Amino acid sequence: MQVELTNKPNSEIIAVAMFQGEEQKNAKTYNLDINTFKAKPGVCQTVLLSKNSKVIFAGLGKKEDYNSELLKKAVAKITAVAAVFKAKEITIDATCVESNSVSSIIEGVVLGQYAFLKYKTNGDKTERVEIEKLNIVLNANKKELETQAKTALVIANAVNYCRDLANEPANVATPNFLAQTATTLAGKNIVVTVLDKQELQKLECNSLLSVSQGSIQPPVMVVMEYKPAKYNKTISLVGKGITFDSGGISLKPGKDMDQMKFDKSGACAVIGSVKAIAELQLPIRVVGVFAATENLPSGSASKPGDVVKAYNGKTIEILNTDAEGRLILADALSYTEKNYKPDCIVDIATLTGACVVALGNGVSGLMSNNAELTQKVIQAGEESGDRCWELPLWPEHDEKVKSDIADVKNLGSPEGSGGAISGAAFLKAFVDKTPWVHLDVAGTAWTTSQRDYYSKGATGVGVRLFVKLCQNLAMEK
Ligand code: BES
Ligand code: ZN
Ligand code: ZN
Repeated sequence: MQVELTNKPNSEIIAVAMFQGEEQKNAKTYNLDINTFKAKPGVCQTVLLSKNSKVIFAGLGKKEDYNSELLKKAVAKITAVAAVFKAKEITIDATCVESNSVSSIIEGVVLGQYAFLKYKTNGDKTERVEIEKLNIVLNANKKELETQAKTALVIANAVNYCRDLANEPANVATPNFLAQTATTLAGKNIVVTVLDKQELQKLECNSLLSVSQGSIQPPVMVVMEYKPAKYNKTISLVGKGITFDSGGISLKPGKDMDQMKFDKSGACAVIGSVKAIAELQLPIRVVGVFAATENLPSGSASKPGDVVKAYNGKTIEILNTDAEGRLILADALSYTEKNYKPDCIVDIATLTGACVVALGNGVSGLMSNNAELTQKVIQAGEESGDRCWELPLWPEHDEKVKSDIADVKNLGSPEGSGGAISGAAFLKAFVDKTPWVHLDVAGTAWTTSQRDYYSKGATGVGVRLFVKLCQNLAMEK
């Protein structure tokens, strides 16, 4: 999609976003009568100017309640209306909003018109019209807004790239497929290392290996290292890449099990983020890591009660094979910390159903061993739209994962209470001394129905957050 910043509307379809109370003022500018229109958030009204030209009025609600998410949602609505008119070009005027409107408009359009149609063999694809040119009306022509536009386009496209990957079914997106996909991004700034099953055996990543042993698909651990010419910080992003989570011997119920193809969403977010960060050439070293495997039952699968020794030497009692995310992250986290020595680590995982119960679908759970990094991640979440909410992770929570016969157990006690925290308490045992944040995106990685600027399926959660976090960290001294 091409973006042009302009001073006056210049296409057949023009959309104007406005605050409540400013309806008449806007109507006058466009010489229109919109007496009945109230600019409530999410409300659109289309007025025909002539046979071909239309104005879409979009509400942003009350000025005092405004945040950039409201603009993104309004723009996604505008995009949906434009799609009905089969518009290939639209102009959006949101000059009533002062800052960051350019990036919010671009994000609203790019995320709003995403659809996963790869496997449709009928007309759905050809009937669909996408916006090829987006004109954004500005009050003044400012050079810095060109950069804002370019950056926003890179980020939004990376979110959709991540959604494309996460939406792939498990028969296509195997661990090897994810490794190959990461490898396609290798280039002058990104070095990709794929650790295969043999290497994982040599390294004694037995926790990751235990999860994969029920499947014929071999596991992988992939490191994508982005190293710019100049940097003074290293961040590591670690993703859970379960390409299908059946639960293993602790088998999940059949209902909705298909959704467990999205259990690789953390890994996909890492891949998408590294892609965007490298394209933007941010001056920060980023070590993207993901562990990927299937979690299936079979005669060779791991069993409840099994004990394994992880990469860092700690022993784990596996009490439930469905709590497999923490098992693969245990090795990925300690491997990353030991071999890349990052200044901080953020992991992203569809880890627990308990987090969905606690926080729902609009916000990710955050748990950490470091208050300063927590604030930075929360801030980046607020700024980017990938919002997070902190849950406690206190020393007393370590008790939840103490095993009777091994160092830790992968099921928290008491069972069924504070499950998101138990997951985090387990992971904490595999980070030695580095500031670390764990993001539980079980509720936010995909949506089962159209919501805001998301169509049904993967949301690409994490990409916007990680890019923003890296932008902010890179600006620190
Ligand atoms: N992938 C699931 C978590 C999940 C559940 C994500 C629902 C999204 C929606 C994870 O591997 C899992 O099965 N966790 C168990 C942990 C339990 C056995 C301690 C869970 O949440 O039930
Ligand atoms: Zn599971
Ligand atoms: Zn899982």
